[in-house]
Amino acid sequence: MLATAGSAIGLGNVWKFPYMAGEGGGSAFVLVYLACAGLVGVPLMMTEIMLGRRSQCNPVNAMARLAREAGSSARWSAVGAMGIFTGVLILSFYSVVAGWMLDYLVRCVTGGLDGITAEQAQARFAGFLADPRRLLVWHSVFIAMTVIVVARGVTQGLERANMIMMPALGAILIVLLGYGAVEGNMGRAAKFMFSPDFSKITPSVVLSAMGQAFFTLSLGMGAVMTYGSYLQRGVSIARTTFAVAAADTIVALLAGLAIFSIVFAHGLAPASGPGLVMQTLPIAFGNMPGGRVAGALFFLLVTFAAWTSSISLLEPATAWLAENTRLSRVQSSLTTAGPAWLLGIAVALSFSDWKGFSVFGLGIFDLLDYLTSNILLPLGGLLIAAFAGWVMREAHESDELGLNALAFGAWRFTVRYFSPVAIILIFLNVTGLLPRFG
Ligand code: PHE
Repeated sequence: MLATAGSAIGLGNVWKFPYMAGEGGGSAFVLVYLACAGLVGVPLMMTEIMLGRRSQCNPVNAMARLAREAGSSARWSAVGAMGIFTGVLILSFYSVVAGWMLDYLVRCVTGGLDGITAEQAQARFAGFLADPRRLLVWHSVFIAMTVIVVARGVTQGLERANMIMMPALGAILIVLLGYGAVEGNMGRAAKFMFSPDFSKITPSVVLSAMGQAFFTLSLGMGAVMTYGSYLQRGVSIARTTFAVAAADTIVALLAGLAIFSIVFAHGLAPASGPGLVMQTLPIAFGNMPGGRVAGALFFLLVTFAAWTSSISLLEPATAWLAENTRLSRVQSSLTTAGPAWLLGIAVALSFSDWKGFSVFGLGIFDLLDYLTSNILLPLGGLLIAAFAGWVMREAHESDELGLNALAFGAWRFTVRYFSPVAIILIFLNVTGLLPRFG
C-alpha cells in the first residue's frame, strides 16, 4: 500500500493538478476530475492490483498469463507492453520537471527566493527554462536517483520513508494554506475550484480531467499492476485502493487551493500552464517568515514524492527485462532508463533551442504530456478494464478481490460496461465524432 501511495502521490498532485485545473477553468475541471477518479479510477486501481497479485509478475507476462488462464489469446500482453512504453515516455518529461524541484530546492536554501515578487518569480522561471544546460544537469541527476533505486530492486526503505514524508508533505501544504489564507486570496481560490460552472465543461476539459485522474493515480500503464504483484495475499485490495485514492486527492486539492490563493492575490493568470507552481509558490516562500526552511522542506518533500513515483514508472519495464532476458536488474534498469534520459534531453531543449519544433501545434514537452495522460493512459485503462470485464473468469476475480456480493457486482459493472463506455465516449466526443455534449 505504501508503495502504491508513493507511486500515486507525486508531481501529478503538486505540479500537474493545479496547472491543469487552471487551464480547465477551475471547478469545471475539478468536478469532472473528481468524478473520473471516483467512478473510473478507483475501480480500475482495484483491477490493476488484482491482476498483478493474481499473476505475480510484470505487466507483459501478467496479461499473457491471465489471458491464457482464461482460455484467451496471449496477445493481451500487448497491453502490458504499451504500458511499459508509456512509462518510459512519462519518465522522460517527469524527470525534467522533478529537476525543477531540485533546482528550486537549492535556490531556496541559498536564499535565492528571498523577498521575491510575482514578476521576479515569473522572470526567474522563464530564465531557468531558457537555460537547457541547467535543466539537463538536474534531469540527469533525477534519472540517476531513479536508476539507483530501481537497479537495486529494494524500494522497501523508501516506502518506509513514505510514512514520514507523505504526512510531512501534507503538513507543509497546510502551512502554505495558512499563508494563502493570510496573505493570499483563499476565498477566490475556493470559489474558482469548487463553485460549479457547468458552462466551462467542454469536451477537451473532460478529456484532460480524465487524463489527470489516470496520471495522478498512476493508472493505465501497469505501475499499480506491478506493485500489486508484490502485495501479500490477505491484504484488502479495496481498502488499499480507497486509502491511496483519498490521500492522493487530498494532496492535490490542498496544493491547488494554496497555489490559487497566491495566483489571485497577485493577479496572476490561473491558466499560466506547466510553470504555474514555479511562478507562485516562490512568492510564498520568499516572503513568509521562516520561508527558507519551509520552502526547502517543501521542495525536498516534493522531490521525494516525485522520486517514489518515477521509480514506479521505470519498475514495470525493468521487471519485464529482468524477468524475460538474461540481463541483470542493474543492466535492465540502465537499458530502460537510457531512452527516457535521451528523450528527456529533447524535452529540456524544447523550452529553448528546440522551441520551434512542434507537432499538432504542441512542442515536445506538451506533446508528450498530452499524448501520455490524455491518450495512452486512458487507452491502457480501457483495455485493462475490458480484459477484467470480458475475458477474465469471474470466479478468479471475486476470489482475489474478496468483496461482498453487492460491491463485487458494482465493480464488475464498472469494468465491464461503465468505464469502457465512458472512456470511448470521451475520446469520441473530443474528436468531434459525436454530437457534442457538455
Ligand atoms: N501518479 C504519479 C504522480 O501523480 C505519476 C505517475 C503516472 C506514476 C503513471 C506512475 C504511473 O506524480
